[in-house]
Amino acid sequence: MLASIVKPGTFRHIMCRNNIYPRSNVTRFSVPDDLVFWNVPYESYCPTCYTAPHINGQTWADEPLPFGIKWNQNDGLVNRVSFHGEYKIKNGLPQNPIGRTGLCGRGLLGRWGPNHAADPIVTRWKRDENGEVLSHENSGKNILQMVAIQRSDNKMWAIPGGMVDPGENVSVTLKREFTEEALNFDDKGNMVEQFFKQSGEHVYSGYVDDFRNTDNSWMETTALNFHDDDGSKVGQLQLQAGDDATNVRWTDINGDLKLHANHADIVREVIIKRNAHW
Ligand code: BGC
Repeated sequence: MLASIVKPGTFRHIMCRNNIYPRSNVTRFSVPDDLVFWNVPYESYCPTCYTAPHINGQTWADEPLPFGIKWNQNDGLVNRVSFHGEYKIKNGLPQNPIGRTGLCGRGLLGRWGPNHAADPIVTRWKRDENGEVLSHENSGKNILQMVAIQRSDNKMWAIPGGMVDPGENVSVTLKREFTEEALNFDDKGNMVEQFFKQSGEHVYSGYVDDFRNTDNSWMETTALNFHDDDGSKVGQLQLQAGDDATNVRWTDINGDLKLHANHADIVREVIIKRNAHW
């Protein structure tokens, strides 16, 4: 369990200690690096409480007060299980499994506790005009490209992921989000459908250092790599941004890549798996 937490840089809790909470003028209570973990006492800790008003009444959101919620289990169709084991309930509210964020309430997130997303990392090898795979002049390793979208909420480049709907199988979310955000078309020949069925390799399941996280609501994701090795399938597709994305493109992956939340750390796992240039 711990290994999956440690790997993709989740302990940094950097994005989710941003000073001003996104889409608001609410300031997070200051949490210095050495006071993130709950087991380090922080006597004067007094997080600001905030839940964005537009969350109330949304079909994808919980009730304003979490009465009757079945924590740490499937609650009806809503998956309230964390990838990081049992989270604590303090004063009736679930506690962020990594540590303090300087904000209580749900902020922009719909669920108390874990909010589950799924992230498809769709990759191909970078090729020249003759179709030869290109390697990097310094590392000598082949260059991997991924489909990245520019998120409309924070304008950052990201994996084209999305939220898992209640009762939905993660594999359905992965394909749906990819088609909605990066293709924006009808998969007539079922090619994308087939591609997603055959080639997903598990990369990461766990906490995401998301800018919306609070002490009581946080993002977790399941990331799978869908790799088109000979570039004949999804690697050929024309990309077109849709839904929550303002832009989409095949992006070279390397150590300088800056992505939303800890997506770059998750993508790094794919690079290691495929022994590609970083
Ligand atoms: C995104 C996912 C991301 C998750 C956590 C969701 O809104 O669609 O790509 O992993 O948030 O940041």
